[in-house]
Amino acid sequence: MLSPETASSDLLSERFQNVRRTSVSLIANLQPEDTVVQTMPDVSPTKWHLAHVTWFFERFVLEPHLTNYTRFDEQYHYLFNSYYVTAGDMHARPQRGLLSRPSLAEVLEYRNYVDTAMQQLLQTQTSDEQVVQLTTLGLNHEQQHQELLLTDIKHVFSCNPLQPAVITSQVPTPGVSLPEYSFADGLSGIHRIGAVDGSFCFDNETPRHNALLHPHRIGNRLVTNAEYREFIKDGGYSSPALWLSDGWATVQERHWRRPLYWDKSLETEFTLGGVHEIVDSAPVCHVSFYEADAFARWAGARLPTEFEWELAASEQAVAGNLLDSAHWQPVPGEGPQFFGDVWEWTSSAYAPYPGFKPLAGSLGEYNGKFMCNQMGVRGGSCVTAANHIRASYRSFFYPDARWQFLGIRLANDGHSG
Ligand SMILES: [Fe+2]
Repeated sequence: MLSPETASSDLLSERFQNVRRTSVSLIANLQPEDTVVQTMPDVSPTKWHLAHVTWFFERFVLEPHLTNYTRFDEQYHYLFNSYYVTAGDMHARPQRGLLSRPSLAEVLEYRNYVDTAMQQLLQTQTSDEQVVQLTTLGLNHEQQHQELLLTDIKHVFSCNPLQPAVITSQVPTPGVSLPEYSFADGLSGIHRIGAVDGSFCFDNETPRHNALLHPHRIGNRLVTNAEYREFIKDGGYSSPALWLSDGWATVQERHWRRPLYWDKSLETEFTLGGVHEIVDSAPVCHVSFYEADAFARWAGARLPTEFEWELAASEQAVAGNLLDSAHWQPVPGEGPQFFGDVWEWTSSAYAPYPGFKPLAGSLGEYNGKFMCNQMGVRGGSCVTAANHIRASYRSFFYPDARWQFLGIRLANDGHSG
């Protein structure tokens, strides 16, 4: 019989292998040339993602904890550090696409080298709580980059006139008729918000604390493509009264007239499976916070706050159209779709919870330093790993971001009746 230590060591080691293998499986249909391209500063090349998550294990787990660990390549620390300024200088983010070297083959070799060292560490030192915590953080970090890898290659391929596909599976055709959009009373009063003790969470989900919720109602489902098309046809993009000032300025400046990836005809869109007809009853995605907010105003509603969303979602099972479903595109759903399909914009500025303390050392830069000028998004998307999302999970984007799978749920003030 396994001792508890051996059992947990095996579990972590197995989870490590699974997550690492999943990352490499995502590039099965890519050519080495595909993995080098960067189409805008927000987008990182596939190859860079694969190397950066590996660097994270090397820098934060192996170097401090595996005796006599030797770096695979001294220069990788500079190339693949993302934003940890307390860990040293780094290559400029907008220039990641200039790195034709190291080659993809060398990056995969780097992954194997670090994997071997990590397995050695996990077999010998899982009684060290710090090793377990840092490895778990590294795995969750890699899962975040799995999502970014896919959203980034989607942008890269969308810029290629050949319109290549990352996956060959077809987006399922709708077999469900959606209910009318309606609102259910949410819980009001003082409620506990934030991560529940006992399982992994990021520092930005802590501490669990009391929050006051005013009477409100929350939407029964996500806003669909057909509903968003109505907004467009009703002159949504040319009605300044619907928009926040920054949103209106952005619409003018960038000539936005429809969600990113929609064709002018409003009938087809670019997906990870190539160009497809827009499925009317599927959730709309690739809209910015500004567009979500304007749509909500047009619909006579508003976006939910992070707290309203979290309370409603915590009553639901964590299940839905996630990475593991392998659609990699939002699909029509029968249920409330709190998890998966699209990250849902909230009306909450991404800010620290009362009493928030970032992690110690360089890893304190993971979340805390971004708590300015961004909006909270919730629920994960069709390219978020299923075992990576939970009701308390907080992600965040600048209000003009559109390249992630970002969509809309509505809310309203007051209670019914
Ligand atoms: Fe990262």
